[in-house]
Amino acid sequence: MNRVAITGTGIFTPDEVVTNAELVASYNEYARRQNEEHADEIASGSRDPLPMSSEEFILKASGIERRHVMDKSGVIDPSRMMPKLRPRPDDEISIMAEIAVDAAKQALEQAGRTAADIDGVICAASNHERAYPAIAVEIQHALGIKGFGFDMNVACSSATFGIQAAADMIRSGSARAILMVNPEITSGHQEWRDRDCHFIFGDVCTAVVMERVEGNEDGWEILSTRLATEFSNNIRNNNGFLRRTHDQMGERRDMQFMQEGRKVFRQVVPMVADLMLSHLAEQDLQPSDLSRMWLHQANKNMNDLIGQKVLGREPTREEQPNVLQDYANTSSAGSIIAFSKFSGDLPSGSLGIICSFGAGYSVGSVIVRRM
Ligand code: COA
Repeated sequence: MNRVAITGTGIFTPDEVVTNAELVASYNEYARRQNEEHADEIASGSRDPLPMSSEEFILKASGIERRHVMDKSGVIDPSRMMPKLRPRPDDEISIMAEIAVDAAKQALEQAGRTAADIDGVICAASNHERAYPAIAVEIQHALGIKGFGFDMNVACSSATFGIQAAADMIRSGSARAILMVNPEITSGHQEWRDRDCHFIFGDVCTAVVMERVEGNEDGWEILSTRLATEFSNNIRNNNGFLRRTHDQMGERRDMQFMQEGRKVFRQVVPMVADLMLSHLAEQDLQPSDLSRMWLHQANKNMNDLIGQKVLGREPTREEQPNVLQDYANTSSAGSIIAFSKFSGDLPSGSLGIICSFGAGYSVGSVIVRRM
């Protein structure tokens, strides 16, 4: 079996930022207009008024302060409440492939590799903008990579599942190096008109280069990976290709992200902590051996609790860095942003764990050691 390492990462961050204050102002104006328009039904009791959102709630419940988005004007326009993205003709690169190419170029540069060194592309994300051809094949074409590409989706866990898929191919020898990208245009499937979740997501794309260890690479060796899934309806998006066959093409709440937030919090935290602890134990490692944990970035309170369960004490900000205050939940990209931004300072021999979790339910754990 070959040894495998992460030798480069990259992040595409959209320029536009929506602060909690801007988000709440636009949602509250949308809610006020809705309540005014439906004043009679609300007065007769046949309709509930839309409640107002608050900055204080968002910060306290999630730790999120702002998010990057591909289109701010559409998202904060109370008469629209969703991004406005220009439709692209088939002979122009798709938007997911475009942001992935940007992040991929950074990851390749950090790895000191070119397209010629890569054998395959995995596009792992929580939504893909079309059914086919695969976005990964378009990225492969745009970068001039030979070999193969495929798309995969395990929601917020897509990146760690993508790392295991790539690492297994490299270990067994079917590929020498793989580029994995996570273009997350979450603003397209977030429901900006629902105060329970309108603050959750942000847009970004991450990229990871993984390759066979041949001796003198600088990077993080992937020591072991573990995945787990358990079916749950508590995070769900019902949008799909059979929609027209159900004669349900009208406006529907379940065509966007939905969750039972409290249940997700309660059920996913122990699942994540259990997988991380059993994974470490299988590798004869103690939580105290870890220099850092790069967790999925959904909720600060959730991460604090997971860190506490794994370490048996509160983790420091250095041990468990968060980026969600600036990025919000970027679905599969969150743990990779944290890893990319907060791993360069650790010395050779340091151990860490990348862990993501989300819909499915799904959890992925990747133990790495600085070479
Ligand atoms: N502004 C003000 N009040 C709000 C609000 C908002 N934007 N959104 C909800 N509230 C209200 C609720 O209506 C509720 O009021 P009530 O007590 O009168 O019924 C109260 O605040 C608590 O709401 P709840 O949804 O139970 O909040 P929470 O503490 O569970 O936090 C999440 C919500 C989503 C942040 C949290 O449940 C969570 O992080 N869940 C899982 C993680 C996740 O987001 N996963 C995504 C995929 S990985």
